[in-house]
Amino acid sequence: MRTTVVAVVMGIFFGMMADADVKPQKDFNLQRFAGKWYRVGLAYDSVSFVPFRDKLKASMGIVTALPNGNVNLTMWDVTPLGCQVMVYHYEKTNVPGQFTYFSTRHNMVKDITVMETNYTEYAVVLKHKVFNREYTQVALYGRTQTVRNDVINKFKAFALSQGFSRGSILTPPPAENCTPSRSG
Ligand SMILES: *[C@@H]1O[C@H](CO)[C@@H](O)[C@H](O)[C@H]1NC(C)=O
Ligand SMILES: *[C@@H]1O[C@H](CO)[C@@H](O)[C@H](O)[C@H]1NC(C)=O
Repeated sequence: MRTTVVAVVMGIFFGMMADADVKPQKDFNLQRFAGKWYRVGLAYDSVSFVPFRDKLKASMGIVTALPNGNVNLTMWDVTPLGCQVMVYHYEKTNVPGQFTYFSTRHNMVKDITVMETNYTEYAVVLKHKVFNREYTQVALYGRTQTVRNDVINKFKAFALSQGFSRGSILTPPPAENCTPSRSG
């Protein structure tokens, strides 16, 4: 767990997310986590992301649990070029609920932590590489395109408590015409 220790120390160093408690969901169960999710909330303070904030949509994703414990996440994203399918490959670590992946966009390995989920309604997922404004994201996933207000409010309060600015905490509208053409 050296990464987590470094992350916590760096968090204190930058004075941001100092009290972040990056622990995965207790007894994380990948099989129950698999399947369809919508990204209904996103906290992301990156300066380069500001122009895209009001274009964000609640994209749909499918989590596929691979036999070796790794994960494929297929996302249908609305982009200026239309609806685009992206596949992200997450590698398991020896901590259940914690994964790593290589971000081609940022050219670095990132950590993915499923912090909290009850599998049937919502999941809070942290994506980070030490605590850095440009790279740290917290996403709220829902099994449906809209989730209950108290789940949204809990997510917002959590993001605020982690040092995200109010303007960086987004709850995008549903993505229209951007779902898989094949069913299932
Ligand atoms: C997982 O993703 C990789 C890389 O995109 C792909 O080669 C592989 O076929 C996928 N596996 C499944 C089961 O979807
Ligand atoms: C998931 O959480 C919601 C409320 O937060 C609740 O209504 C639902 O029953 C929970 N499901 C499980 C399996 O705990």
